[in-house]
Amino acid sequence: MQESFVDSAPIRNLLDRAAGLDGDGGDARLKAIMRDLLEATARVIVRHDVTESEFWGAVKYLQDSAGEIGLIVPGIGLEHFMDLYMDAKDAEAGLAGGTPRTIEGPLYVAGAPLVEGPDVNLTVDPDDTTSLYMTGQVRGPDGEPVRNAIMHVWHADSQGWYSHFDPTKEQTPFNNRRRIKLGDDGRYAFRSKMPKGYSVPPGGATDVLMKAVGRHGNRPAHVHFFIEAPGYRQLTTQINFGDDPFAHDDFAFGTRAGLLPVPMRQGDSASITFDFEMQRAVDQEDEKFSTRARLEV
Ligand code: DHB
Ligand code: FE
Repeated sequence: MQESFVDSAPIRNLLDRAAGLDGDGGDARLKAIMRDLLEATARVIVRHDVTESEFWGAVKYLQDSAGEIGLIVPGIGLEHFMDLYMDAKDAEAGLAGGTPRTIEGPLYVAGAPLVEGPDVNLTVDPDDTTSLYMTGQVRGPDGEPVRNAIMHVWHADSQGWYSHFDPTKEQTPFNNRRRIKLGDDGRYAFRSKMPKGYSVPPGGATDVLMKAVGRHGNRPAHVHFFIEAPGYRQLTTQINFGDDPFAHDDFAFGTRAGLLPVPMRQGDSASITFDFEMQRAVDQEDEKFSTRARLEV
């Protein structure tokens, strides 16, 4: 069957009506996007001659995978695509420089304890592994220290589990999660226990999809950051350990050049010095987080 079947009058009419284009009600932008999504789906079906059984297999997969949708989106590269798209729009608008953004991932939890230095410790649960010491400075485009920033930090434990998402249920709430209030010098320092790389839940929907396309579901060990400060653009980023076996093979496409520091390992401790550069906010919207739904505790 030719793909032009999708352009025939009866199919165009169906897609128009399905997206509500024949009526005045509803949201015009949503209706236009839905029309294009339906047409794109129809084209894929015709181009690949998707059978009725394959079609309902796909519907069943979507139905069963709802709980893991936040894991699947980075796994199929769409969360990274959004980063590349925002980067490209920034470049077009003449906005460049600063620490690269990279994916937030699905495992942030709002409401972590707000703490101040000098001795910030993220790990409250016992974890018999290497200690991590991370230090650095948050600066602006002219090298100035960013004043009064809040740095949100979160990472996995030595088993690769995040508190609040740990199937063993053994972690204290907000273990390895803090919001750190920085001062006028923009300097930060914290200690914690080294995270292990993350792997998608075995046998789960993400794992099933990755295996079906001949891929794996592993991420290198990493530490997530949000940084917010008055007058600066909110930054979502993460560092991935440059010496991890998956440092250049991250299933979630979250590793980026400039965000792969190699920890200095010495005995049972490791240290990383990493400076962040924030962009200046153009308007107040820039200072805010996206309205992505996040677990709040
Ligand atoms: C996923 C897990 C992470 O820890 C992360 O940072 C990004 C993505 C995931 O399971 O898809
Ligand atoms: Fe993560």
